[in-house]
Amino acid sequence: MINILVYIVGAIFILGFIYKTWIWGKSAVPLRIVGTPGPKTFPGVILRIMGEVFLFKSLFRGNKLLWLGGWIFHIAFLFIILRHLRYFFYPVPIWIIELQIVGIYAGYIILIPLVYLLLRRWVVDRNRYISTPMDYITLFLIIVIAFTGILMKEYIRVDLVDVKAFILGLLTLQPSIKPQSVLFLIHFLSVLLLIVYFPFSKLMHAGGIFFSPTRNQRDNAREIRHVNHWNNIIN
Ligand code: HEM
Repeated sequence: MINILVYIVGAIFILGFIYKTWIWGKSAVPLRIVGTPGPKTFPGVILRIMGEVFLFKSLFRGNKLLWLGGWIFHIAFLFIILRHLRYFFYPVPIWIIELQIVGIYAGYIILIPLVYLLLRRWVVDRNRYISTPMDYITLFLIIVIAFTGILMKEYIRVDLVDVKAFILGLLTLQPSIKPQSVLFLIHFLSVLLLIVYFPFSKLMHAGGIFFSPTRNQRDNAREIRHVNHWNNIIN
């Protein structure tokens, strides 16, 4: 049962992600609205977007505290995922083994920015005003995932051989039985919930950043005449 659920969630995520980015990709971008100072060349654009993806540069300029919370959250999340890759590979590549310890620390550290991000919406009036229930639920869901993970790691152990057999079984389309641990089930089902919700949510900023016209355009409005194709329709 849970195996089928995993495949359905996987399909919704992949198709949803592709659909959303496809819609954004074919949307009209009629104007040069590059944020100044903008890059003049294509490598410059790549560099600028990489600055956004890895360093959240625009956010840094706008709000230092939110930048710190957001950046630590994402980096910790990344290292947690990298640590988890040990369940997905057999044999486990050496670089994943070497990252294990950082991943464990990241599991604890992530709770700090998560609580901050939650409180920030709750406590600051103007943030609460623009926050939807799903904004809170998403953060809460990630807290539940991290918390149940830490509980499994430190207090109520789960059989990791079972976990690995379960994940590898799913990946090789030879599903085996799920680990017999309630905590693992809560952890895993919460992850599935997060993944299935991803394409329909603000979490899609992970893909959307690449389509942001103020960030992905070259500042070449004086070299090239940009004709808006809508003009032909109007004329
Ligand atoms: C397919 C998805 C996932 C599986 C199968 C999985 C499984 C597990 C297991 C079995 C543990 C216990 C590790 C141990 O006992 O040593 C764990 C720990 C943990 N998980 Fe996950 N997990 C998944 C996704 C996630 C995600 C998306 C997060 C993001 C927040 C996360 C956060 C954590 C944390 C913070 C810990 C505790 C620290 C650690 O051992 O790494 N997990 N997970």
